[in-house]
Amino acid sequence: MNTQIKHYILEHEDELIQNRRYLHQHPELSLEEFKTTQFIAQELDKLKVPYRLMEPTGVLAEIKGSEPGKTVLLRADMDALSIDELNHHLDYCSVEVGKMHACGHDAHTSMLLSALKALLSVKDQIKGTVRFIFQPAEEIGQGAKKMVEQGVLEDVDNVFGIHIWSVHETGQVVCDPGPSFASADIFKIHFKGKGGHAAQPHLSHDAVVMAAEYVNNVQSIISRSVDPLSPAVLTIGKFEAGDRFNIIAENAVLEGTVRTFNNETRSVVATQMQAYAEQIAEMYHGSVEFDYSYVTEVVDNHLQSAQLVQSITEQTFGKDFVHHDAPTMGAEDFGYYMKNIPGAFATVGCRNVDKETDYPHHHARFNVDEEALKYGAELYAQYALCYLNQDEF
Ligand code: NI
Repeated sequence: MNTQIKHYILEHEDELIQNRRYLHQHPELSLEEFKTTQFIAQELDKLKVPYRLMEPTGVLAEIKGSEPGKTVLLRADMDALSIDELNHHLDYCSVEVGKMHACGHDAHTSMLLSALKALLSVKDQIKGTVRFIFQPAEEIGQGAKKMVEQGVLEDVDNVFGIHIWSVHETGQVVCDPGPSFASADIFKIHFKGKGGHAAQPHLSHDAVVMAAEYVNNVQSIISRSVDPLSPAVLTIGKFEAGDRFNIIAENAVLEGTVRTFNNETRSVVATQMQAYAEQIAEMYHGSVEFDYSYVTEVVDNHLQSAQLVQSITEQTFGKDFVHHDAPTMGAEDFGYYMKNIPGAFATVGCRNVDKETDYPHHHARFNVDEEALKYGAELYAQYALCYLNQDEF
């Protein structure tokens, strides 16, 4: 644990909170984070830290230490959600109608900026390079991929990310080895039949029946084709069909999502879903358009990186901070950085019932206990320094 980093973060806690509040007031949706990008760029200009503006939004900044060495990537996401904020009692409530930082990405951006400043203050002690990524469009699962396509992983040896987490109390940090967030895919299945008069079903091919049969039986893929020790979720969230009560539906469209923790299970589910859709369409003399997209990768924490996060947490904040929890079927596009590079993703608790920061993520009353920001900022910075300065990893 580096005490200079700790002191820097604590001495500049006000600024950390003010930056988060500014970003909270001015949320921007995925791939529209132009002002947020500009805000970060201005901060970097003041610090004279070199950076690169990414397309269409996002920033890559770098601090090179006094000695050559490895490169560690620290990532914060920065997009908001299309939600009308209901925290009207806060003087930093969103001023943008229909837009809200309801997942805490405002906190991530502000924490990473503070970590950057803290690392700049110990630049002469850094062996290697710290690369900072302010990533857009996490909420639509596209941002990490866009960053990687623009080369942010070149020469990177290790990656680290944080999500502020209202499920856990302030003062709890979770980073267990293995899968922590599921892969998330989306699908759209369009059954096409032949419309007709409701009284003459024998002259038509009913798309409602095809889709209904699919919804009722498709879960057997999970219960009978997937290894029961490998979790998988198949949810159909949208079912749209028909035009009128007395017309047999020609079209029925289903949309949903699949979550898994490994690519083998993922591909079993996708393949069987398509085969089953085709069989049903054939049985009812219809046809089907099956559209399945792989969106985010599983976040699978590398053993040594997760252990490093845990030991840093213990040394920096105390043993009580190291918390453990089961993985979530929720998704995070951070997994895209970890496809070929080891690393870890931690959650930093920000739940405090007295401060009403116990609402779930993506809720119109979501808020962050700002006490937690300094823990996140310090964890980013300590991780980077510790990873780079250890001789063997
Ligand atoms: Ni999020």
